[in-house]
Amino acid sequence: MTVIKTEFDEKLEQVRLECMKCEKCSLCHSRTNTVFSGGVPNSKLMLIGEAPGYYEDMKGEPFVGKAGQLLDKILGCVGFSRKENIYICNTLKCRPPENRDPLPEEKAACKEFLDAQVNILKPRIILLCGRVAVNSFLDTKLGITKLRGQWFEGPDFSKMMPIFHPSYLLRNDSREKGSPKWLMWQDIKEVRRVYDQMNV
Ligand code: URA
Repeated sequence: MTVIKTEFDEKLEQVRLECMKCEKCSLCHSRTNTVFSGGVPNSKLMLIGEAPGYYEDMKGEPFVGKAGQLLDKILGCVGFSRKENIYICNTLKCRPPENRDPLPEEKAACKEFLDAQVNILKPRIILLCGRVAVNSFLDTKLGITKLRGQWFEGPDFSKMMPIFHPSYLLRNDSREKGSPKWLMWQDIKEVRRVYDQMNV
């Protein structure tokens, strides 16, 4: 089989290779792997999380731990999967020690990779998963509870929606109306509705 490489593939691969050898912040000393992305690059839908945790750092893939398994389940309920139609990445590409919050200088150092991913892939819908991802794109002091479920204008006329982080859902078990899990379900159904309306 002949694999045809497009300009798009080559640009993305170049960024990935640069990211792999990045030493722009001190996280490069403690990482096992950089975690660039998962899923399908040519997707209308991109999800941006916070930073790799233990399992992601070990495997070099985003959202493969418990939170990731829950995320896959939620996405799967509305027909999204990383094998078919979603691209997944993080705000930081390297794991912060003990999963502490990313530092401003780490986010600043990593932003060029995230921006490159968004600019090259040009997703139509961007899900900002949790507070850290939200703060990378929206200049607001409002918390995720106030912002989740709302549409914002993103780069290149994309639509961006803040959603809860799956780790937060793991800590809140209720599925009752108004609970974080229930709200996430409303949000993901809304994402699917808008996705289906886009004929790109
Ligand atoms: N949490 C994140 O935000 N990203 C991951 O890849 C894993 C856990």
